[in-house]
Amino acid sequence: MKYKGFAYIHTIGCQMNVYDSEKLAGILNEKGFKRTDTLEKADVVVCNTCSIRHKAEEKAFSFLGRFAKKKKTTPHLITVMAGCVAQQEGKKAFERLPHLDIVLGTQAFSRFGQHIESVKSGQRKLVDIEDSSDIYEAMPDTACFNENQISKFVTIMQGCDNYCTYCVVPYVRGRERSRNPESIVKEIETLVSAGVKEVTLLGQNVNSYGIKEEEISFHKLLEKVNQIKGLERIRFATSHPKDLSMELIYAMRDLEKVCSHLHLPIQSGSDKILKKMNRGYTRENIISQIMALRNECRQISVSTDIIVGFPSETTRDFNDTMDLLAQIEFDSIFAFAYSDRSSAPAAKFPDQVDEEEKMKRLNTLLQQQDHYTEKKNKALVGETVSVLVEGKSLKTRDGFQKGLNKMNQMTGRTESNKIVHFPGNEVQIGDLVDLKIRNAYPHSLWGDPLGAYDK
Ligand code: 5AD
Ligand code: SF4
Repeated sequence: MKYKGFAYIHTIGCQMNVYDSEKLAGILNEKGFKRTDTLEKADVVVCNTCSIRHKAEEKAFSFLGRFAKKKKTTPHLITVMAGCVAQQEGKKAFERLPHLDIVLGTQAFSRFGQHIESVKSGQRKLVDIEDSSDIYEAMPDTACFNENQISKFVTIMQGCDNYCTYCVVPYVRGRERSRNPESIVKEIETLVSAGVKEVTLLGQNVNSYGIKEEEISFHKLLEKVNQIKGLERIRFATSHPKDLSMELIYAMRDLEKVCSHLHLPIQSGSDKILKKMNRGYTRENIISQIMALRNECRQISVSTDIIVGFPSETTRDFNDTMDLLAQIEFDSIFAFAYSDRSSAPAAKFPDQVDEEEKMKRLNTLLQQQDHYTEKKNKALVGETVSVLVEGKSLKTRDGFQKGLNKMNQMTGRTESNKIVHFPGNEVQIGDLVDLKIRNAYPHSLWGDPLGAYDK
């Protein structure tokens, strides 16, 4: 037998891709290939791709391009392009990657096992980019479950019907569809029984969960998940400002396992640009939503996504975004330079902003945000926070205090989604630990276990 029985999966992109890669790992495991971190021993190499921005797409081609040579010396190596770029490119992918064996679209996962069998029996250049109204719902495979992981993603819906004009998601992930609540709860129960303490529920727009299917709404789903015994924390992403309901805000306030953090991508602070993006809300809507949120949930942290340099964005529009960031003071942001995607309508919009100007605006925005992030972090100094321990901390700044060495330094995440480094000799991954925050910087927080040094 020429196969050694290992598969290497390289994931690019969002949390949903991380989740999808685990599903692909489950299928490969059933076919006799265990997931490995060692590329050299793999018989199957999968790149789970992202097409949200040009750079991500290029990463996929460059990763898979590396196997052209190896395929000549090891012809039985199975190479797979999966996910969004695969869906977008279809058989065009072979033009740049003639050595690819399988192009597996976002909705073809249920057929991946068959395709692997076909390639093993000699077929090449398989393309499956068929649409599907179903969601691939395999339960977590405990055989390839990394027992160290205490926090897992769970996709509750796929696709998107919002058609923001810059975005490829509706074209590569298909129409929005939600899983039924029973299968979601069952999946989380399976994860919890394997030691998972925290789940992040994923969808492009979780606020519209279940509406099409006339299932329970998202805040009701949260209530159900909140009842799962042994689960400690619930997170979710992403929320769309146009659909954020008061019911969800109340659920965040009242359900004890739902973390006090909301990721609410606003994209821009200019009404003109928001309209051109087809976002369906105004800057006033954002301000009143965040006020309502902060009124109900005192401890809430809020993060966002911003795109700079969208076609026709003037300095004035950009300043509107800067202004809004100053007004809201997000805990953290992800900011991106607008990237032209040929399948999205904005690619054809006039007045594209030049790359240099986009980068200038991006840097200005990020620098400004550093102040707000630092301010929010500094406000935590002296406060007590509860963190879920994620692992050993490799950060050096501020460590080694009071004779502690690096090996004792651990890292955990607060409910508000901030990472804290702390000395923790006796703590285990997965513990919930109360920490007193000692120091804060723009990109890190440092704390001590409660009672450790306060004599
Ligand atoms: N260019 C730049 N950023 C984009 N995003 C989505 N599409 C694009 C694009 N074409 C950003 C949005 C979204 C995040 C996941 O990626 O901010 O919220
Ligand atoms: Fe893309 Fe808009 Fe859908 Fe988000 S809501 S996935 S940005 S189309």
